[in-house]
Amino acid sequence: MNTNLQMGTILIDGKKVSEEIQNEIAEEVKQLKAEGRKIPHLAAILVGEDPASQTYVGSKVKTCEKVGFNSTLIKFDSTVTEKELLNKIKELNEDDDIDGYIVQLPLPKHISEQKITEAVDPKKDADGFHPVNVGRLVLNLPCYISATPYGILQLLERYKIETSGKNCVVIGRSNIVGTPMSILMARNSSIGNCTVTLCHSRTKNLKEHTLNADIIIAAIGKPDFVTADMVKEGAVVIDVGINRVTSTETKSGFKLKGDVKFDEVAPKCSFITPVPGGVGPMTIASLLKNTLMASKKEIYS
Ligand code: GUN
Repeated sequence: MNTNLQMGTILIDGKKVSEEIQNEIAEEVKQLKAEGRKIPHLAAILVGEDPASQTYVGSKVKTCEKVGFNSTLIKFDSTVTEKELLNKIKELNEDDDIDGYIVQLPLPKHISEQKITEAVDPKKDADGFHPVNVGRLVLNLPCYISATPYGILQLLERYKIETSGKNCVVIGRSNIVGTPMSILMARNSSIGNCTVTLCHSRTKNLKEHTLNADIIIAAIGKPDFVTADMVKEGAVVIDVGINRVTSTETKSGFKLKGDVKFDEVAPKCSFITPVPGGVGPMTIASLLKNTLMASKKEIYS
């Protein structure tokens, strides 16, 4: 990555902001403990042996412990039946000590992710994936917001990036990133009030849209997809991509690449997120924030 950015380009440090948020949460947990109030408790369900999912869930549980939350990891073999998983979800819904929980995706093919997502009590839906939370997000009602979009809002807020009246192009329309992100950026809210264009695989003349964007949020899952000729001078570029590509530069033989061709795009930007160290570390901070809100019953009483 080119660290010699031109003067005027600000590198958004997601790792630092995530740590700041974790410290703020840890302080709040200390306060809750001192007042004899309930300690937030997050549970995570992990099915199967997928290495990426094991790493993600492991770091979620570890970060819970770091900030003083209680955490419970529930592991199932990949042969678990949908019914067994639904029984566990029912148990977690009824357990008053569990404030929030997540079911790590993807699930094995014989289990319906939609059925599982819909079985989670929306009040305990720390991932913000349940249709009730997504619907409330669309209506600008209090809700749990899924981790990546929520993390991006935090970055825009903490770097005091003006969004009101700006043109925002979101590239990618996934249920957990692109679609909610497009809605959040258009909402009448302190971070929002953008004119949003949601671009996707069928968009014609993508470059015409991106060249008109003050803010580009790339969540398409294709390495180096956004190139310098697609970006207006002074744009804010948020890169959601975490693409594992082969590399001769690393011992492992792999490296992480974003959806944005960083070296050539960064010099044109007012703000840009790197990969790694930009949006990625924020997702865990969002999950902790949702769990804290669940524990304090701030969204649903
Ligand atoms: N798989 C990839 N991202 C996520 C996430 O944010 N939550 C869950 N539960 N599974 C995921």
